[in-house]
Amino acid sequence: MANKAPIGVFDSGVGGLTVVKEIMNQIPGESIIYFGDTARLPYGSKSKETVITYTRQIIRFLMGKGVKALVIACNTASAFALETVKEEVDIPIIGVVKPGAKVAAQTSKNGNIGVIGTEGTIQSGIYTEFLSKTNPNVKVFGKACPLFVPLVEEGLIDDPVTLEMARRYISDLLKYDIDTLVLGCTHYPLLRKTIRKIVGEKIALVNPAYETARTLNKVLIEKGLENDKILKTDHKFYVSDGAEKFKKFANSILPCEVVETRDINIENY
Ligand code: DGL
Repeated sequence: MANKAPIGVFDSGVGGLTVVKEIMNQIPGESIIYFGDTARLPYGSKSKETVITYTRQIIRFLMGKGVKALVIACNTASAFALETVKEEVDIPIIGVVKPGAKVAAQTSKNGNIGVIGTEGTIQSGIYTEFLSKTNPNVKVFGKACPLFVPLVEEGLIDDPVTLEMARRYISDLLKYDIDTLVLGCTHYPLLRKTIRKIVGEKIALVNPAYETARTLNKVLIEKGLENDKILKTDHKFYVSDGAEKFKKFANSILPCEVVETRDINIENY
């Protein structure tokens, strides 16, 4: 029996849309309920406790909408909250870090892997932990890029300021002979072209979104939760602030038209 319930996906802002895009491409029969916590972003500079509190509120909101599975489309919340909240929900819940680390470990030939992410993600050491589990010989070099998220949220994707910041953040990593760079924040794939200008053509850029969507598809099939393949989906978008701005951005990157985005007060959940 097809399960028509939606998938709940969330992030601190627009970054999780890079994961939504992959889910729409790979599993087009599934409906998505997205929440972007635009009022409280960035998560990357918040404490672990705060990110866990935010994550619990968002999960309560999405569960109230009847979702059948959850995707934490945020590296920071995956790093800080996934282990805790997965014990608290009775539906499948996946993050983006484990899938991203898996691809990076498979991609690197010389074992020198760079990871860029928020302060929270880099300081948590979670990529190093997962990468070392996959291959104990890898060397992981992390770099926090705190200004990337506000630059993306402001739409400065293709701007000289962003290019200059990318140069400052990433040049250091190039000293370590990395052959793979993990875009360890869901906002960063939106800066792919800019980052490419700094790293050149020889370094592989890993976007965890693709493998996350694959993992989700596998979990849905394993648990018998998949919808039928009829492409009649009903996606819904919610944010905690700035619905119109979010809608415009979503329409510039998603393969479907976002007709409406609603503001909600997430503190009520
Ligand atoms: N996009 C998120 C991540 O993957 C969070 C960015 C932020 O709010 O700092 O970490």
